[in-house]
Amino acid sequence: MRTQVGIIGAGPAGLMLSHLLHLEGIDSVVLEIRERSYVESRVRAGVLEHDTAALLREVGVGARLDREGLVHTGVELRFGGSSRRIDLAALTSGRSITVYGQQEVVKDLIAARLDAGGQILFDVGDVALDGLDSDAPVVRFTHEGTIRELRCAVVAGCDGFHGVSRGSVPAAQRRTVEHVYPFSWLGILAEATPSATELIYAHHRRGFALHSMRSPEVTRLYLQVPPDTGLADWPTTRIWDELHTRLATDDGFALKEGPILEQGVTPMRSFVTEPMRYGRLFLAGDAAHIVPPTGAKGLNLAMADVRFLASALIDWFRQGRESGLDEYSARCLRRVWRVQHFSAWMTGLLHRPADADEFADRLQLAHLEYVATSTAAATTLAENYVGLPLDWSDRVDTSAKPAVPFA
Ligand code: APR
Ligand code: PHB
Repeated sequence: MRTQVGIIGAGPAGLMLSHLLHLEGIDSVVLEIRERSYVESRVRAGVLEHDTAALLREVGVGARLDREGLVHTGVELRFGGSSRRIDLAALTSGRSITVYGQQEVVKDLIAARLDAGGQILFDVGDVALDGLDSDAPVVRFTHEGTIRELRCAVVAGCDGFHGVSRGSVPAAQRRTVEHVYPFSWLGILAEATPSATELIYAHHRRGFALHSMRSPEVTRLYLQVPPDTGLADWPTTRIWDELHTRLATDDGFALKEGPILEQGVTPMRSFVTEPMRYGRLFLAGDAAHIVPPTGAKGLNLAMADVRFLASALIDWFRQGRESGLDEYSARCLRRVWRVQHFSAWMTGLLHRPADADEFADRLQLAHLEYVATSTAAATTLAENYVGLPLDWSDRVDTSAKPAVPFA
């Protein structure tokens, strides 16, 4: 098999890249280790930044998003027994977020690629990358019982945190920066009408809680839990009791319960691989970086990466210009580190630290009070939460900064 761009992974990053390239007449093949039904039903994040939602519309995959997505112009910060609304739209000249499940984005992109005759091979095995430092990389894999080879000009590693792409870069050619947080998130999807019209980020002495949603009938809820906890420690009544306690307000907020449709525990980490390129391999999305979920940024960062990558590849295939590919990693990493900071900041603002004492708690409350009352502080939260514009990366003056190692 031959193609221009071999894409490893049919998550949001790989699928959007394939779609963006297709719109410009560039051919790609997507290889995915899981079955289609698995990737289409896996429950992940659900908040689209303003420009992520706009991109889906712009590239022709926004019809269902427009029908089913829930546009939110604000979020609630809940602390000390009451809620303060951050008016995202007012603070960002009308920008908003859209609640729409990641697996819905994946379904829409798969449908668009297959309708256009695009090639996505599901259920492949033994994926291995070779010749990345040459101008003729090869991807070897198995599919339907046969060993196959995909020859391409470029490989896009969009295979998430557990994929093979990142590990295909020789260890001496990459650096990893990592931070593991001393807590996890227990998430549930419940068949219950959301108890509020907007997302609620709740600070509580017992730990963080989040009220989110997927539709007018389905609520998504999260609890900060210890890192060594498992679902066995969390019978349904304990989950609901804890959610009621942490989301309570002095004026009697009523959390609606319903049958739990899905639940899971996810560890929290920040992780960055630098650079995001090795020869003809370009890493994008979770394959290159992980952020803690507090800022709802993972999917959005993946989308920003592939927009940069698609435009660099289009320039290269069309005009033979290398500059976009050469700048790809540094351009992405400027946004990645901005988002790492924001996600770590939101996490620190709202979670109970491992060594929590009265002082730490009072500082968090003072900080939350400031965000809720100062336009400057609220704007910082709002502009990052709805997402900085894509060209933000190009506005950063890089001349005064040390070079990114290995870039
Ligand atoms: N070969 C082929 N595909 C692979 C391999 C492999 N060796 N390893 C993993 N994959 C697939 C996974 O099954 C998954 O479908 O790659 C895909 C990666 O998708 P995601 O993990 O969703 O990553 P990405 O597309 O970068 O999306 C960004 O945003 O909300 C966050 O973490 C969340 O997934 C989300 C991410
Ligand atoms: C979600 O709805 O899954 C969600 C919302 C906000 C977050 C993280 C996850 O910060």
